[in-house]
Amino acid sequence: MTASELIQKYNVPGPRYTSYPPVPYWNIRQWQVNDWLSLVRKAQHAETDKKLSLYIHLPYCDSLCTFCGCHKHITTNHQVESRYIDAVLKEWQLIAGNLDPESEIEEIHLGGGTPTFFGADELVRLIEGLKQILPFSLQIEMGFEAHPNSTTTEHLSKLHALGFKRISFGIQDYDPLVQKAIHRIQSKEHVLFCHENARKSGYESISHDLVFGLPKQSMEGFRNTVEQTLNLKPDRISLYSYAHVPWVKGTGQRGYDEADLPSADLKRRLYEYAKGVFLQEGYIEIGMDHFALPDDTLALAASQKKLHRNFMGYTTTPNSLLIGLGMSAISDCKLGFAQNEKSVSQYLKRVENNELPITKGHQLSESDLEIRQHILHLMCHFETTFPETTTLDRKKTEEKLAEMVNDGLLTIKDGTIEISETGMPFVRNCCMAFDAYFENDIAARKFSMTI
Ligand SMILES: C[S@@+](CC[C@H](N)C(=O)[O-])C[C@H]1O[C@@H](n2cnc3c(N)ncnc32)[C@H](O)[C@@H]1O
Ligand code: SF4
Repeated sequence: MTASELIQKYNVPGPRYTSYPPVPYWNIRQWQVNDWLSLVRKAQHAETDKKLSLYIHLPYCDSLCTFCGCHKHITTNHQVESRYIDAVLKEWQLIAGNLDPESEIEEIHLGGGTPTFFGADELVRLIEGLKQILPFSLQIEMGFEAHPNSTTTEHLSKLHALGFKRISFGIQDYDPLVQKAIHRIQSKEHVLFCHENARKSGYESISHDLVFGLPKQSMEGFRNTVEQTLNLKPDRISLYSYAHVPWVKGTGQRGYDEADLPSADLKRRLYEYAKGVFLQEGYIEIGMDHFALPDDTLALAASQKKLHRNFMGYTTTPNSLLIGLGMSAISDCKLGFAQNEKSVSQYLKRVENNELPITKGHQLSESDLEIRQHILHLMCHFETTFPETTTLDRKKTEEKLAEMVNDGLLTIKDGTIEISETGMPFVRNCCMAFDAYFENDIAARKFSMTI
């Protein structure tokens, strides 16, 4: 089968598996705070290691990019900053008191929205405040997402002085036509300035986010984007497939026409082209959507099969407890998930009322836990093995994968499923064969396309 025929066959709506089960299938509409906290304690108690990761969602952006699928709040009023930081610190205080006294923070990631919407001093206040509440591990890994248009020299130097070693810049595409369509104008000269400034400030890992499948993208324009990216040689590159989900309220994706989107075939060719050039230039493909230079810690972890994936993406720290702070943030204690309020005003209101702002979530069953492991292995190592005593119907799962075997996308031998080189772009389709919720519900939910 040709690459284009494979795409036609396998490009179907499906979950992205940032969690299993995917958010639409979570079984708790409204967590009772005490139930959630006791699940967290139970999960922490079962682990010998009390290290945890913190994800902090900083939702504000100065301007709306019309392709964006993130939870964000657009405003030009920077007065909002200090109230929000106060709330995050208070939220952490409310949670930290319930954790094991041996707990320490091993990883912090600032995501958004746009962390660099906040002034450098507010971000310093945030980190210093967190440190007062629970100790940081000596090996702490800290990173943040930065919009080139709002990243200042002060951000770079002050955050580096605090211990941030990783930064990821949202680039998306350099083509002026695409930038106009997505309402995000940023010059390559400015990106170059930020990138070099970050290097000079001492950041060890600089990552660039690119998106393929955006409106008005063409092969010629994207070639130039790939070339510009390689000129700067970031340590990591995220090559995201544009998730077109205009039915999700408030994503702002209705600013352009469906006709402006590249065809499925062109979209795939954009990906194949970028991937080919990155590999040729010495990058290693890490899990799904990610590339890294061979000496980058993610690449090393991937080669040693030590890669882990959580809501923040791929990571080298496999902590089983991830606490999400801030509007819409998701926490994961291995046995369950909880998500915070998705509107800034509700989030602030509940925290300022001394309440944990959690809403929906999920408590994982035995079989959820096993499926979650398979999906994690497939996403991180492109292979998974059924345990001797499985909670799943192995025969049925293997039958569901038979067509992918026939098409050369994977092999199955003695209970081990291994995705081939050709099958790598179709890893989500393979995960779907394990998904116990999706199979009964294909028509009812709306997901972005798998490719
Ligand atoms: C929170 S933003 C990064 C920080 C900052 N707000 C910025 O835009 O530069 C996270 C990344 O998610 C990706 N992203 C956002 N919406 C997306 C969509 N609909 N499909 C695929 N990727 C998307 C973009 O690559 C973006 O850089
Ligand atoms: S892409 Fe980044 S800056 Fe643009 S709206 Fe989304 S979160 Fe905000």
